[in-house]
Amino acid sequence: MTTSIGITRAHTNIALIKYWGKENKELFIPMNSSLSLTLEAFYTDTKVELSDTLTEDEFYLNGAKQDEAAIAKITRFLDLFRTETGDTRRARVESLNFVPTAAGLASSASAFAALAGAMNEATGLNMPAQKLSTYARRGSGSATRSLFGGFVEWNKGDSNENSMAIPVDDANFDIGMIIIVVSAAEKKISSRAGMELTVSTSPFYEGWVTSAATDLADIKEAIKDRDIHRIGSIAEFNGMKMHATMLASNPPFCYFEPESIVAQQTIRTIREERGIPAYFTMDAGPNVKVICKASDIPAILEELGKVFPSEKLIPTLPGEGIRTLTEDEWNA
Ligand code: DP6
Repeated sequence: MTTSIGITRAHTNIALIKYWGKENKELFIPMNSSLSLTLEAFYTDTKVELSDTLTEDEFYLNGAKQDEAAIAKITRFLDLFRTETGDTRRARVESLNFVPTAAGLASSASAFAALAGAMNEATGLNMPAQKLSTYARRGSGSATRSLFGGFVEWNKGDSNENSMAIPVDDANFDIGMIIIVVSAAEKKISSRAGMELTVSTSPFYEGWVTSAATDLADIKEAIKDRDIHRIGSIAEFNGMKMHATMLASNPPFCYFEPESIVAQQTIRTIREERGIPAYFTMDAGPNVKVICKASDIPAILEELGKVFPSEKLIPTLPGEGIRTLTEDEWNA
């Protein structure tokens, strides 16, 4: 019997310039380049064990055996590596999601980045992170950016080989995020389905693609200058434009819930009346993410705490890229 093991930790990321729409659905080549911040507080640990005694792939998430549909998704992803290596051994995959309870942020980004990392190790391919990001991408687009820490660009590219992550800045300055948990329920329209509907029906989509390119160039300058006002305002503008494309889809759809609007208004008030730089972004769900200075987190939490229960507010600092875990770390 031959067994090979790989264990990897990957953190999730939140896009400041969003990925919304695929140019190539099979290869996950996006319509526009995007940029995110990797987060410390949310991550996935994944262990892959390749063994010639297994007859099919197995997948356990937080200790629970997953159903056939979930395994089929994993198998399709692992097949990318099997094609590359010619090693057809089946895998036992165990994943642990470290997401504060009820955050509703169980993320495909950290999941596929961690699985790609563990597979990279178990197969002995040992690809550098940038090349590995082209594999993670084909599990879920946003996973591309979770290979690296800090601010990360996903350069859209135009082929399987060059649609990849580029580390932009390690975010080693006064910046953080607060997640406002509006709902932890599973989203009704997946990002995959939502972006597809938007691309094919929204008359605003073209405007989204062109303006996202401008936003990306601008935010990279703002990051270079460590200018939190500009980083935040560009991200807020970009996020709202993405949601505007959905309102104009046919049929129209919207991820906002009443509490999301309350959160947005509270952030604006904190910014305008308290003079604290705080900006928001939202993804394919009702939760609101606040972009702010790390040093302002206590003051912002105090203000938000007047409107939201404290367990719905999760602060985090920037996180690191993927890393290998030892068996001891995994068993701890
Ligand atoms: C709104 O990466 O979840 O969070 O590639 O189809 O798996 P698939 O989609 P996914 O989409 C993320 C969309 C977003 C914006 C972003 O993270 O850039």
